[in-house]
Amino acid sequence: MYKSYEDAYRRSLDDREGFWSIAGGAITWDKKWDKVLDDTKAPFYRWFAGGRMNTCYNALDYHVENGRSDQAAIIYDSPVTGIVSKITYKELLDKVSSFAGVLKSLGVEKGDRVVIYMPMIPEAAVSMLACARIGAIHSLVFGGFAPNELAVRIDDAKPKVMLSASCGIEPKGAIPYKPLLDKAIDLSKHKPEKCVIFQRPQVKADLTPGRDIDWMEALGAATSAECVTVEATDPLYILYTSGTTGIPKGVVRDNGGHAVALKWTMKNLYGVEPGDVYWAASDVGWVVGHSYIVYAPLLYGCTTIMYEGKPVGTPDPGAFWRVISDHNVKVLFTAPTAFRAIKKEDPNGDYIKKYDISCLKYLFLAGERLDPDTYHWASDLLSIPVIDHWWQTETGWGIAANCMGIEELPVKAGSPTKPVPGYDVRIIDENAKEVPNGSEGIIGIKLPLPPGCLPTLWQNDDAYISSYLSDYPGYYATGDGGYKDEDGYIYIMGRVDDVINVAGHRLSTGGMEEVVATHPDVAECAVIGVEDKLKGQVPVGFVVLKAGAARSPEDVSKEVVGMVRSEIGALACLKDITVVARLPKTRSGKILRATMRKIADGGEVKVPSTIEDPAVLGEIEEALKGIGYPRT
Ligand code: COA
Ligand code: AMP
Repeated sequence: MYKSYEDAYRRSLDDREGFWSIAGGAITWDKKWDKVLDDTKAPFYRWFAGGRMNTCYNALDYHVENGRSDQAAIIYDSPVTGIVSKITYKELLDKVSSFAGVLKSLGVEKGDRVVIYMPMIPEAAVSMLACARIGAIHSLVFGGFAPNELAVRIDDAKPKVMLSASCGIEPKGAIPYKPLLDKAIDLSKHKPEKCVIFQRPQVKADLTPGRDIDWMEALGAATSAECVTVEATDPLYILYTSGTTGIPKGVVRDNGGHAVALKWTMKNLYGVEPGDVYWAASDVGWVVGHSYIVYAPLLYGCTTIMYEGKPVGTPDPGAFWRVISDHNVKVLFTAPTAFRAIKKEDPNGDYIKKYDISCLKYLFLAGERLDPDTYHWASDLLSIPVIDHWWQTETGWGIAANCMGIEELPVKAGSPTKPVPGYDVRIIDENAKEVPNGSEGIIGIKLPLPPGCLPTLWQNDDAYISSYLSDYPGYYATGDGGYKDEDGYIYIMGRVDDVINVAGHRLSTGGMEEVVATHPDVAECAVIGVEDKLKGQVPVGFVVLKAGAARSPEDVSKEVVGMVRSEIGALACLKDITVVARLPKTRSGKILRATMRKIADGGEVKVPSTIEDPAVLGEIEEALKGIGYPRT
């Protein structure tokens, strides 16, 4: 279809409407769009304006009507519970239609929000698709988040109904979800009318009379619901992601542009065909799970895998190879941290020899920087293309990648290759002026963003503008810094804000600081992201105690770790806290976090000219040494 990567890329920018109108032809529309790209309210762009469709129809009914009834839509593989099950497209359609009926019977209508707090079980996908079927807007919250984080999201999304399960399964055992859900609803100002709870055999949840409903009982009483037609521009979901403060951003995804873009990526970016088995080893609570566990593979008629396990420990570092071999996986998509975890436990790749994984054609990695060591290790081990691709919750699909279905470009380790068609990626300076190739700057995407990217933040157009569009007029600011080399390859050097990536999970150090600062003995604090061999980054906290603090530094450190765990969640992984006499600051009082990061990473430290007292850097170095940093 495209002559080359260059051809596809140029066409996507020179004739945006022509390019995406062809891609739009792959979706079944109830009514064709009036305008491919409506820019009348720029910078609020709308794709496929005037079009009407249903995402669930395109993901399920369409395939059942076109010969895929008996093909597995979902393979659920849960190594800790020992369950492996297959759900065909027809079975999934029946489950989703029935559950959409449950939602309707609870009064959920088009535009209503439904918050989903679910582990990696097929009912999570059923919940999402059932919402899509009736035009309700879902908002998933990752199971590792603590009640307080869930409460913040409930208050912003204001769901009519919540969907959850009695527990999640971690290698260390079952994690009861219902007490977390109850606590979150206690904490939130907004109270959902009903909660539907899927009881898993490992843990039985106590149901609150009058509010909670047993999933299976509700299904028994339900009549199935048909697809509701929605505007292409109507929201499909809200996904909260970390910004620079403790208040998460409600990224909105529309229906039409999202379906078009995701379906396009399956062939063009990932190189798969309908009927292939596609496995995104992530979690439905993250954007990768939304896009590539649920929507994209189903829109394209693939079989998707829901794996409720880890790369290691469930039961061993051969877990991924076992799943690939058992289920004939063609494409694996995961985070580099998963490969680092496997490499740590099985450096010689002995476990892979136990399985025939000749079905695997591509490994895609994203979510954090793919360090060259991990790239080479994975590439040597698998002898297939290992593709680093760069994207974020806001875009919903790859911004830079080596597009396997268009043209395989030479790989440069450390680079996610070139911009994906649709994205006009530029490296700019603080005045929004482009910098020459080879120079580092802010990575901006020239507006408009392609279909599928966030049209705004949930009920907060102003925050959309101030977070992403106002600093560099004409550009969407990605929050990442980096450069392009002489061949136009992009290199991502990391976030330019206070967002960190811990084991592929996006977290806000600002949010952690807000929690630490509430400790009664803490006068001041800073949390920074430090390089970590396994998780990519981990947070490290610095605490200045109030004069006459009641507790010892050791006790405060322990308590602060516990507070972050219970307020944000175990996934925050804030384990290292050091008590210092003061923090390094500029003369105007700004904490020099970037300098602290450099010291912790063992990099070359340039003393900032604006520093109030350079001697404090030596104190920070000593304090970090005391807790084992830099980790060389
Ligand atoms: N529900 C409840 N708790 C959860 C959870 C969930 N869904 N997911 C994680 N947690 C908890 C863990 O139990 C752990 O708690 P602990 O501190 O009491 O042990 C904590 O959060 C950190 O978990 P995790 O990040 O999984 O770290 P780990 O050390 O257990 O495992 C890896 C390390 C690398 C194996 C793991 O992070 C991994 O598989 N990463 C892949 C990342 C990924 O898929 N990212 C998605 C983006 S593509
Ligand atoms: P999230 O929104 O959780 O997907 O996190 C997005 C952020 O993760 C990006 O802004 C980057 O900082 C980082 N990221 C994602 N993919 C890559 C990649 N391939 N290389 C480097 N950083 C990445």
